[in-house]
Amino acid sequence: MSIISAGKGKSKYNIHIEDKELSKNLINRYLNKHSKILVVTDSGIPKKYLKHLKSNINNKSIHIFTLPKGEKSKSYYSYKKIINELSKLKFDRSDYLIAFGGGVVGDITGFVASTYLRGISYIQIPTTLLAQVDSSVGGKTAINIPQGKNLVGAFYNPKCVLISTQYLRTLSEDEYKSGLGEVIKYSFIGNKTLKKIIEDKSKQIIERKESTLKIVIEQSIKTKAKIVTKDEKESGIRAILNFGHTFGHAIEAYKKYKNITHGAAIVLGMIIASKLSLYEGYIKDDQLKKVLDIIDSLELESDYSKYNYAKLKPFMAKDKKVSNGKLNLVMIDKNFNGFLTSKYNLKNIKKVLG
Ligand SMILES: NC(=O)c1ccc[n+]([C@@H]2O[C@H](COP(=O)([O-])OP(=O)(O)OC[C@H]3O[C@@H](n4cnc5c(N)ncnc54)[C@H](O)[C@@H]3O)[C@@H](O)[C@H]2O)c1
Repeated sequence: MSIISAGKGKSKYNIHIEDKELSKNLINRYLNKHSKILVVTDSGIPKKYLKHLKSNINNKSIHIFTLPKGEKSKSYYSYKKIINELSKLKFDRSDYLIAFGGGVVGDITGFVASTYLRGISYIQIPTTLLAQVDSSVGGKTAINIPQGKNLVGAFYNPKCVLISTQYLRTLSEDEYKSGLGEVIKYSFIGNKTLKKIIEDKSKQIIERKESTLKIVIEQSIKTKAKIVTKDEKESGIRAILNFGHTFGHAIEAYKKYKNITHGAAIVLGMIIASKLSLYEGYIKDDQLKKVLDIIDSLELESDYSKYNYAKLKPFMAKDKKVSNGKLNLVMIDKNFNGFLTSKYNLKNIKKVLG
């Protein structure tokens, strides 16, 4: 097992990564055995995982709350239902929530935990690759409102994050590739060890070899944990985690969040941002080729020709990184380090997108 820590002071927490089932000992390590537990999960998570988790928790009072699977559950309606349940069960500040699922379950459970009784403890047990390498680490919690995604939320760290690669065995190919999109991002914005692992072991990653996945997840989290610990509330360096996200979010929004996963859109966004980095003179042709080779080696989709400037422009203007009317973008330099800049030529964006 490997352990990485994130957060500062009292809100510091450990992230455990296993390539076997989570042990009874680990599952109970951060729980107070006299507390009540509410496990929040969704209908798409195989029942055998929930059964294993439930039978391994020592506490007497365990309750399960199952949301319908999908992004729609990250809503005010679900939030209210979970809060009502906690209230009905008379949860107090000594009790625990467990987020058991992908990023949807993690985000809404974290948000409930941050607001119920002004904050109760929660544990993240992420079951998708995207949640393991990204959303369960960093303390960003949220729900969606009709005006937009993640517009209501809080920064609130969990007590711990418990990861097992075994959950990934049942993940659909699309959801698995979505997580790989975030994995390669870390290799483009600074993690050279991870880049080398992907270059050397792409076949094992595609085949979901768990000992390799453990190392890949570990490296991804190391990068994320380092950045979010330096900048907990996203006022500076954390922005580089958004490499590919301005264009990726615009693609997702243009598609009305249908028929494209988050990670697949981010991969296209990273290609666009890398080409822009080339046209702006930050990288050379051979470096762009490396980016494209890594994407190809993991069999991820790289054709963004359906999304031209005219289609994406309205959605890019809404990006959170717009300040003083100018869009700040994350680009990469010749050493594969990400950086945020507003210095670019609009003509180059039009040239990349066509
Ligand atoms: N908080 C953050 O920092 C952060 C970062 C990135 C993304 N997010 C959020 O994460 C969400 C996306 O998360 P996601 O990609 O995990 O999607 P998701 O939570 O919707 O999960 C995808 C699907 O996989 C199913 N599933 C989960 N675990 C499974 C397993 N082990 N086997 C088989 N099926 C399984 C789920 O039921 C669901 O249908 C978005 O709402 C996004 O905004 C948050």
